[in-house]
Amino acid sequence: MFHPLRVREVERLTDDSVAVTLTVPPEFREAFRHTPGQHIALRRIVAGEEIRRTYSICAPATEEPAEPVLRVGIRLVDGGEFSTYALKELSVGDTVEAMAPTGRFVLEPRAGHFAAVVGGSGITPVLSIAATLLARQPSARFCLIRSDRTAASTMFLEEVADLKDRYPDRFQLVTALSREEQQAGLPSGRLDEERLAGLLPALLPVADIDGWFLCGPFGLVQGAERALRGLGVARTRIHEEIFHVDDDDGAGTGTGTGTGTASVTGASAATGSMHTAAPPTAATLTATLDGRSGNWPVRDGESLLETVLRSRADAPYACKGGVCGTCRAFLVSGEVRMDRNYALELEETEAGYVLACQSHPATAEVELDFDR
Ligand code: FES
Repeated sequence: MFHPLRVREVERLTDDSVAVTLTVPPEFREAFRHTPGQHIALRRIVAGEEIRRTYSICAPATEEPAEPVLRVGIRLVDGGEFSTYALKELSVGDTVEAMAPTGRFVLEPRAGHFAAVVGGSGITPVLSIAATLLARQPSARFCLIRSDRTAASTMFLEEVADLKDRYPDRFQLVTALSREEQQAGLPSGRLDEERLAGLLPALLPVADIDGWFLCGPFGLVQGAERALRGLGVARTRIHEEIFHVDDDDGAGTGTGTGTGTASVTGASAATGSMHTAAPPTAATLTATLDGRSGNWPVRDGESLLETVLRSRADAPYACKGGVCGTCRAFLVSGEVRMDRNYALELEETEAGYVLACQSHPATAEVELDFDR
C-alpha cells in the first residue's frame, strides 16, 4: 500500500544523482522502519499513468523510539521517467507516494567480518548496511570494495569517508575507478572476475568472511560472484542485488517490461524457469492478497501479476522486470514458468516462491498467495 510522504530534503550527490529524504509521520513510523539494505517503491502518476520505481535506503537503520530516516539514493537513468523527475523537479515540500520498505538483501547487525563489492549506485543499500553494523556491533568489521567511473561520479563520497574516520580499525575501503587514475587505491580499470579473483585474497581473509554483499550492475555482480565461488566461498554467504539489467544480459527471455531503472533492487542472479511444462490453452488463477482471495481467467500471454492487477489494483509490484522482488508470491498449487528472475534467491524458489510479474501458468489451475 502506498502512503503519501513529504519531501524533507533533496541533496545533490553528483551531477547525476541525488539523495531524497522523506518525512515519516508518527502513524507510519513502524511501517517505515527498515532493515539495513532494504528498498522502497515510489510511485508517481503522470497523465493518468502510474510510474513505479524502487530505490534503496541509504540511511542507517534506527531503533525505537528514534524516528526512521527514509533517505534514498536516486541516480539519473537515460530516459528514466522517475529519476528525471527526481533530479529535475522534485523539491522540498512535495509529496511522494511510498510503499513500506521491503527486500531481502539485508544484514541484521551481528558480530563478524563482512565485505561488499559494489559498483556505481550499488553503494546505496550497502552504505546503510555498513553504517548500521559498525554503529551497533562494536566488534564487527566491514570491508567495502567500490567501483566507479570517476571520483566526480561517485555517490556518497562524504558518508563513506565519514565511516573511515569514525571506524579506522574496523572499516576498510578500497576504491577502483574505471576511467581515472588515483593517487592512492587501485590502478584504473574495471573490477571484473579476473581482477577480483586476484585482488580479494590479497585484501581479505576470504574464507573467514561471514557474509559478502554484491550490489550494482549485472556484469559486476556476476563477475564478483564467479570470483568468490572460484575462491571457494559458499553460495549461502553471498548476497546479491542487481540494479540494472539489460535485455541482452543473457538471463531469461526478457518478456517483462523494461528494467532500466536507477535503483531497482533485490536480486539474485539466479535465472530460469520454475517449470518447463507446455503452457495450457486456458488457465485460471486463484490468488490471495491481504487476506482476500479471487479467481480469474489468465489471458493469453499475460503474466500472473497482470491477471491479478486487472481486478486488484493493490497487487504489489514495482519494476515488472524480474529485478526488484516486490511481486514475490508463494505458489500454493499448480506450476508456473518464469521468464526471468534476478530477485529471488535459490532457497526462495526452492521453497516455492515465484515472481508474479514473470510467471505464466504451466498448468490449467494455479494458486498464488501474496501474503506468505
Ligand atoms: S515487480 Fe519487480 S520483480 Fe516483479
